[in-house]
Amino acid sequence: MLIRNKKASDCTESEVTDQSVYLNRRQFMKMGGGVALGVGGVGHVAAALQEGNSLAPPASLTNSFQNIIETPYGSAEKVAPFDVATSYNNFYEFGYGKNDPKDKSAEFKTTPWTITVEGEAGKTGVFDLDDIIKESMLEERIYRLRCVEAWSMVIPWVGVSLGDVLRRFEPTSKAKYVYFETLYDPKQMPAQRGGSFDWPYREGLRIDEAMNPLAMFAVGMYGSVLPNQNGAPVRLVIPWKYGFKSIKSIVKIRFVETMPETTWSLLAPSEYGFYANVNPNVDHPRWTQKQERRLPSGVLFPNVIDTEMFNGYSEEVASLYAGMDLSRFY
Ligand code: MTE
Repeated sequence: MLIRNKKASDCTESEVTDQSVYLNRRQFMKMGGGVALGVGGVGHVAAALQEGNSLAPPASLTNSFQNIIETPYGSAEKVAPFDVATSYNNFYEFGYGKNDPKDKSAEFKTTPWTITVEGEAGKTGVFDLDDIIKESMLEERIYRLRCVEAWSMVIPWVGVSLGDVLRRFEPTSKAKYVYFETLYDPKQMPAQRGGSFDWPYREGLRIDEAMNPLAMFAVGMYGSVLPNQNGAPVRLVIPWKYGFKSIKSIVKIRFVETMPETTWSLLAPSEYGFYANVNPNVDHPRWTQKQERRLPSGVLFPNVIDTEMFNGYSEEVASLYAGMDLSRFY
């Protein structure tokens, strides 16, 4: 996921941290442009900030939700400007540069949207997203998103507790894990036409992690529907884990008995584990995880801060991992 070997404690604006660069050499060569795009992405953020962008989504994003339930989550946090959160993204289905998801997802079709529910559950089948989440259930939660690449942002999400959604499918006692899958549609998602990923993008959680009240099934941000580049129409937000666990554009949920295979741990098992809890004490093999660049940041304001255990959510989630060696189960 990263292209620099220098110590990440030297986090600077020019440091380009890009998960995609793990890919094989041929892919890497092809991605000469991809690396440059990564740099472009950082520049884009800086440029966006210079233009003095506001926090709010533009008026053109008309699909605002009404009557979102406010919650105390993260109310003291300084939220990232909308333009930053929607133009510096990882959504490899649309390309490997940080601004590719925004530039290449404009035509992505997200209605109608169904989710297939399978496996160890009482209620399985194909469900319309609108039947799974009702607008009246929506709440806003401001969470820190910490990417494994050592940058982070604070984002106001709109959605519901993932556990509330999953319980409605009546998982059986055999459902020890839950697996999620992103849409596979190479016609709409250009990077799925090649590359080293074994598409579709896959993720998974232990069932008790998924049921933790912090885990979120999100359909919006900044009070409006999710922009395509942020995982429309529905994604996970698992704030105590590295961002790659927060899978976007979900079309499949499967309740399973054994730990499912996940995209990044298939691609580079020594670098990306199943658990992927934010942990400043366990470095990535190629860089430290002790610090992070909180976006927005720039050359003159690097905004490097210390990374917190479980991204600062220890009180809510540490008990899930009692007795586990987190350097082994990274
Ligand atoms: N989900 C899918 N389907 N494809 C992706 O490439 N990238 C992950 C995660 N979810 C990714 C994904 C990574 S690495 C991160 S850091 C977050 O999405 C980024 O979310 P954001 O772009 O909304 O900030």
